[in-house]
Amino acid sequence: MDEALITTMTVNGARVTRSVPARQHLVDFLREELGLTGSHIGCEQGVCGACTIRVNGEIVRGCLMLAVQANGCRVETIEGLSDSKELEKLQAAFHRRNALQCGFCTPGMLMAAQDLIRTGRKASREEIRAQISGNYCRCTGYQAIVDAIEEVING
Ligand code: FES
Ligand code: FES
Repeated sequence: MDEALITTMTVNGARVTRSVPARQHLVDFLREELGLTGSHIGCEQGVCGACTIRVNGEIVRGCLMLAVQANGCRVETIEGLSDSKELEKLQAAFHRRNALQCGFCTPGMLMAAQDLIRTGRKASREEIRAQISGNYCRCTGYQAIVDAIEEVING
């Protein structure tokens, strides 16, 4: 039986404290303990990017970090960035450009893309592709995703 440990963090602006299994991954904690199911679980080994979240301002794989490692951290998920309207332009561009089909990759894709957009600088299509190279999409062929991100970045 996994040892239980206390972890406290700020998730989307709200402080939460829970007793969690020592080996529980952060994305499982967010989904199962907090009901934040916007962060998806695909490969569970850091490859697909479906679980991308922000910890202390940096995007990370929620499947490669333990909930107890986030103790004292500021965690932001797709729900938080949507509620704060930070993703409003990007979400609208994805909708306009048909940059999603099943939508499974979309939360992670938006989190990764926003990380580039928030730098405030222009970016080439190659840079955009590099930025989302760790986020797999099985449906779209990526073209429309790059179009949508480019539209927001380069106005
Ligand atoms: S589920 Fe985390 S990278 Fe695939
Ligand atoms: S839209 Fe289906 S995996 Fe990307």
